[in-house]
Amino acid sequence: MQITDISAFQVFDSRGRPTIEVDLTLSNGIHGRGLVPAGASTGQFEALELRDGDASRYRGRSVYKAIDHVQGEIARALRGCDVFMQRELDSKLIALDGTENKSRLGANAILGVSLAAVDAAARCRNQMPCEYLNDGTPMTLPLPEIQIMGGGAHANHAIDIQDIMVMAVGASSYEQTLEITHNIYHATAELLASRNLLTGIADEGGFWPSARTNQAALDICMEGIERAGYTPGVEVALSLDIAASDFYDPGKGVYEFRCEGRSFDAAAFCELMADWCARYPIAALEDPAADTDTKGWDMICSELGARVTLIGDDLFVTNVARIKKGINEKIANAVLIKLNQIGTVTETIDAIELTRKAGWLPVISARSGETEDAFIAHLAVATGSPILKVGSFARSERMVKWNEVLRISRRLGAKASFRGAAMMPWHTAGPQRARQARP
Ligand code: PGA
Ligand code: ZN
Repeated sequence: MQITDISAFQVFDSRGRPTIEVDLTLSNGIHGRGLVPAGASTGQFEALELRDGDASRYRGRSVYKAIDHVQGEIARALRGCDVFMQRELDSKLIALDGTENKSRLGANAILGVSLAAVDAAARCRNQMPCEYLNDGTPMTLPLPEIQIMGGGAHANHAIDIQDIMVMAVGASSYEQTLEITHNIYHATAELLASRNLLTGIADEGGFWPSARTNQAALDICMEGIERAGYTPGVEVALSLDIAASDFYDPGKGVYEFRCEGRSFDAAAFCELMADWCARYPIAALEDPAADTDTKGWDMICSELGARVTLIGDDLFVTNVARIKKGINEKIANAVLIKLNQIGTVTETIDAIELTRKAGWLPVISARSGETEDAFIAHLAVATGSPILKVGSFARSERMVKWNEVLRISRRLGAKASFRGAAMMPWHTAGPQRARQARP
């Protein structure tokens, strides 16, 4: 089935910022759509998101150059190509760009086209994207990690760490993970309101953390879990995105908690992470060290790698070469997967495969600037990825993904199983962790 036309236009993401939508047409008249998200705490090694940089238009954020690339060079190169040959299409896009980080055409231009091709191809076959992409790997419904409080770059650095999330590790179905999270999210809102701390929500829908210290925010989340009637460490675990690259000073080699006026060298920060993991039922830590601090990662992984899921986001940026290096150095045990960090669907799937083959966990993730597109729900199910991270339990650009997994589950029935925390080899739920839950 041939691609006959590719067009693109500017739309807006969940933060009201310009992004790119691609419309790809096939010879049978079927259209596919690709919508591109954007980060705020972007890693320095990510593929380049091309913005016009013209201060007189959208504060420099418009994406007209990327749109021109889609409708010009890219459309010319892909017209007449077979939409079912995703790997070839993506290779063509990579070769056409010709740079290491997709900086010539823009990773946003390239990803929009790559996603639109998958969408069109799946529609042609009358399949859901997850069915179309599945290569025979057993499909699973992911265990969500859902944000209760959002800090860091998503909340004007009200606290230093970025995401305080819950994982319903005791749930026996996907639907039950949502019920548990729903109850915790709303119990936490009540709790904050009762203390006059309900001041707003952060970029991904979690509560604005009006706390004096990072740890005080963790305590509020623990109270929220208990107020909802759950035992932390039994039904529910915590997962934290520390996003440490955001407050690491590479010159001094220190991590700075600005909201507390405290700084730590790599060894002291590792100790702090270990201390939190002893005091709280933490199942997963993302970016507990900066992307340039390999020594810090190594220290944390030696200390916690046997019992905590340690997820590299800025460290790996969904880049096969960086993930390979990390696997050889054994500095983590899980990889955050974000399509726009690398720029094509094929490279993203390769990153997932590599991660899984090493016995590590792929964690499929949204960005803080999201769209109404729910493709990542399909990606998680298609690849049997154990964990899905989308932000909080509010706002439609988040809920559309959680809801899409419900739809997929209804349509796939027994073809997709839910294994929950059993897919996290390092996680030991149960009373033992519960006892550790409080100091
Ligand atoms: P970002 O945040 O999309 O702003 O990079 C998400 C994350 O760090 O996981
Ligand atoms: Zn992150």
